[in-house]
Amino acid sequence: MLRFFFALAIVVSALIVFVSSHEESGEWSCDSNSETPIQADYKPGIVTLDGHADDWKDVDGFEFSLLPALDPDEENEYKGGKMTVKALHDGKDIFFMLQVDGEYAYSKGNNKKCPSVSLMFQVGENASYHRMGGCDQSTDTCTNRTCRGHEVDIMHFSIGNAIPGRLYGGNPIDNRDGNGGDRFGHLVDLYAWNPHCRYLDGLSPSGNDSSAQNNWQGAWWHDSFGVHSGFVEEDGPYASAGQKGKYYFEFSRPLRTMDHLQQDVQFTIGQTSKLAVAFWYPVDGNPWHGSAHYSINCDWVPLDISVGSSVLNKVASTSGSSWDAASAFALLLSVVSLCLSIFIGYRVSKTKSIIPFTPMDHL
Ligand SMILES: *[C@@H]1O[C@H](CO)[C@@H](O)[C@H](O)[C@H]1NC(C)=O
Ligand SMILES: *[C@@H]1O[C@H](CO)[C@@H](O)[C@H](O)[C@H]1NC(C)=O
Ligand SMILES: *[C@@H]1O[C@H](CO)[C@@H](O)[C@H](O)[C@H]1NC(C)=O
Repeated sequence: MLRFFFALAIVVSALIVFVSSHEESGEWSCDSNSETPIQADYKPGIVTLDGHADDWKDVDGFEFSLLPALDPDEENEYKGGKMTVKALHDGKDIFFMLQVDGEYAYSKGNNKKCPSVSLMFQVGENASYHRMGGCDQSTDTCTNRTCRGHEVDIMHFSIGNAIPGRLYGGNPIDNRDGNGGDRFGHLVDLYAWNPHCRYLDGLSPSGNDSSAQNNWQGAWWHDSFGVHSGFVEEDGPYASAGQKGKYYFEFSRPLRTMDHLQQDVQFTIGQTSKLAVAFWYPVDGNPWHGSAHYSINCDWVPLDISVGSSVLNKVASTSGSSWDAASAFALLLSVVSLCLSIFIGYRVSKTKSIIPFTPMDHL
């Protein structure tokens, strides 16, 4: 009997360990190494939203190691390589380019056997990076009232149904339904208060609001693709597996949206937002699961939306033109004084013959 209880105790404790391993192991600690902000400069008219990176070559990138998001331990770093994040804005929209080293892996129709990326932004002032906003309510009790101040905005792109080089995200059909969904390519616009309280924009436990929209658009690409004229769905998986190269994920969104529910981050030119970037990869061909993702940092990374450089040029040229006016005036003055001195000299030389020369020492 005692032996039975002993065995039962082992089984139970093994179960507890198993269950708790789905949660985080131990105390959360973050040694954030990213104080330098990602710079989104004002560079209008240089990128096309097509997943291709050649038009980004003159934009500075910020390189990050990818560590497991739930347990940022360097031993478990993503072995495929690094992620480079680039951003810019054109005064109306903001653009992101994520470049990740990775062998080509694609399983058509199965999002979890394809790489995937997500951007997350702080919306509420008390929203932490850790635990997606960090609201301490459970699925049954989180509402826009109980979790107020913990809102984060999320964009998630799963490429299993997305043709490379084609545009996905906000589209008239899903936006007419008034939510952040994307039935064509699964580039969705979400918000969350914590990992268990995560919804498409417009949907919420306390009722839906049909005013929401999916404001994101994006495309993906991989170095191993030879075709540039455009893929169609039948071409999938588009290249043979295992080829070395980089994945490219390119996104854009208006700086401001019409959200009035605290579900979208609002970018302001000249101010700093808080960003996180996540990456999923089917390591060794195994499907990933939601919480098993890599992250570029274990805390928010600042994102500076720079003031347009052409504004600076304008300031410089206005001061330049006032300088020009001043120097023209100075030139005029010097010409006048030159004429005056010639005139005086002429008068002096004319009168010289009348006034007799008197040497000084004879006075
Ligand atoms: C954020 O937290 C502070 C301190 O707990 C609180 O005073 C403030 O009202 C919170 N902000 C929001 C938007 O809930
Ligand atoms: C909100 O929308 C979702 C998805 O369309 C639906 O499943 C849910 O029942 C709706 N909730 C309410 C309260 O209408
Ligand atoms: C919470 O959401 C509901 C449904 O979308 C909305 O009617 C209500 O005004 C919201 N409350 C707050 C405090 O934002």
